[in-house]
Amino acid sequence: MMKKLQFVLVCVAALTGAAHAQTAARFATASIDQGRDQYHRTCAQCHGRNMVNAGTTTYDLRKFPTDQQERFVNSVTNGKGNMPSFKDALSTEQINALWAYVGSRGGKEP
Ligand code: HEC
Repeated sequence: MMKKLQFVLVCVAALTGAAHAQTAARFATASIDQGRDQYHRTCAQCHGRNMVNAGTTTYDLRKFPTDQQERFVNSVTNGKGNMPSFKDALSTEQINALWAYVGSRGGKEP
């Protein structure tokens, strides 16, 4: 019985390890770093340093679905609710770097 449980735990560890290795290829570390700099210049005043805020009036970016890049680009480009449009302020490359930062949860899930 114990042996079986141990085996299951080893499998779970192996699987989560594999999943992590797979997502590691999604964003380049350089893009995440570029996005982090950009974020702290243009987004942190509302969304909080390192994306930490109460989430009461401003959207909590730590909860943004990491599989919705299109929605991210659209909201940042065109604005949403009380968030201004960044169409004229940011290039496509800068917005993609921001997505690398937000989509990787600040590099925690690269
Ligand atoms: C002036 C304050 C302000 C700034 C600056 C700001 N935001 Fe926002 N942001 C908001 C608010 C408020 C919301 C909630 C909008 C809503 O749903 O009504 C929001 C929502 C969002 C959302 C979720 C949109 C969705 O699809 O639900 C994303 C993603 C986002 N912001 C990213 C960014 C990024 C990236 C930057 C920097 C380029 C940024 N924001 C700068 C105020 C701001």
